[in-house]
Amino acid sequence: MIKQFFFAIGLLAFTFFSIATAESLYVHSAILEFYQDPGQSTQADSYHYFPDGLLVVQDGHVKKAGNYSTLKSDLPPNAKIVNYPNGLIIPGFIDTHIHYPQVDMIAADNGGQLLDWLNQYTFPFEKKMKDKQYSEDTAHFFIDELLRNGTTTANVFAAVYPQSIDALFTAAEQKHMRIITGLDMADRNVPAYLIQKPEVAIAQSEELIQKWHEKLGTRLIYSIEFRFAITTTPAFFKQIEALKQRYPTVHVHTHISESKAEVTLTKQLFHVKNYLDVYQHYNLLGPNTLLAHGIWLTTPELQEMSKTKTPVSFCPTSNLFLGSGLFNLAKVTSNQVTVGLGTDVGAGTSFSLLQTLNEAFKVLQLQQQHLTGLRGFYLATLGGARALNLEDKLGNFAPGKEADFVVLNSEGATPLLKRRLLYANTLEEKLFVLMMLGDDRTVMATYVNGKLVYQS
Ligand code: GUN
Ligand code: ZN
Repeated sequence: MIKQFFFAIGLLAFTFFSIATAESLYVHSAILEFYQDPGQSTQADSYHYFPDGLLVVQDGHVKKAGNYSTLKSDLPPNAKIVNYPNGLIIPGFIDTHIHYPQVDMIAADNGGQLLDWLNQYTFPFEKKMKDKQYSEDTAHFFIDELLRNGTTTANVFAAVYPQSIDALFTAAEQKHMRIITGLDMADRNVPAYLIQKPEVAIAQSEELIQKWHEKLGTRLIYSIEFRFAITTTPAFFKQIEALKQRYPTVHVHTHISESKAEVTLTKQLFHVKNYLDVYQHYNLLGPNTLLAHGIWLTTPELQEMSKTKTPVSFCPTSNLFLGSGLFNLAKVTSNQVTVGLGTDVGAGTSFSLLQTLNEAFKVLQLQQQHLTGLRGFYLATLGGARALNLEDKLGNFAPGKEADFVVLNSEGATPLLKRRLLYANTLEEKLFVLMMLGDDRTVMATYVNGKLVYQS
């Protein structure tokens, strides 16, 4: 009874406090948002474009987005409006696959491909994350770099040390960002310093889940991460499967079919016909799972991913850098598999999803496929939200969604862009030029949960 009384008082105080602090933000600029994949539906109903728009945000959530001329009559008399006359507001970029321990070894040239690159550069740098101070410094740099590039949500691979997860979640929480991460797990085919005892890694993961997953007042999501099949024994997979069953709302994040050598070795180690069979066998597929790369997935594997609603991350800068292969977007989407974009830093060579789109376009050109500007911006926003199973919260400006957004300089952030954009007459042309020539310099401002967190 007493408990109920205090709960009621608490709720009243909370409600009063929320009303008293109700914060509104009005942003006046061009606005673009997607509702469908323009590559898979008739273009006209896939997006909303308001050349002179108003975005209304209340308490960190979208209230409305529309034409300024229609919405201006709803503005309160003393409304403080933020104007970006040369801007284009889009939902925050979503990076569906990136490694934060790899920021200090991005652009490492070993002359080899995935497996050599991992051994020579990646593993020694991940060892550095054991140092709490180094993890914290890296986490702060990493979060700032995401925001500078207009990325407001990321699905992040961390390291095998719990302190690396604490560091990243802490840095993200300070900006009130929606970040997904978890303990990276491996028990074979990595150097001794990265090998974990499965029981220890599972116990540490469980502790981290209880500490961070959907922690009240935050936007943090825990993800069960194992590097890939090669670095996980069947006995460890059994424990990972049980962990996922104990915590069904946590996410799962790993790699699949990135390089041919990896696919061959996986089939040898697990005696399977297809790579995906390994993850399927341990019940690790589903909409909360993100599989990175998937360059060499076969049609039966894609059909199984479609059936289980398991998405994939397309990481073009990484795939070209490591010479892994060309991601077949047409094949993947015609099999109804959801696709998001990933930078995959540090095999990826840029934090910028605009630069990532530039390379995506070229990867598809080499396969006689065409990526339009409209579809590119869909992939970097709503496509990412869908791939991370966050479409109910992110990806466009539907009322009630979390107000993460970016203001791009649509008149040209560089001398070349300024000149070139003078000759871009349609929205489609403008978007195409921005995705081919744009980068971090194109991001004028980044807002997270309705708050300005970066300004160029
Ligand atoms: N496969 C397993 N680990 C990794 C990694 O760190 N980067 C990439 N690109 N692929 C991987
Ligand atoms: Zn990766």
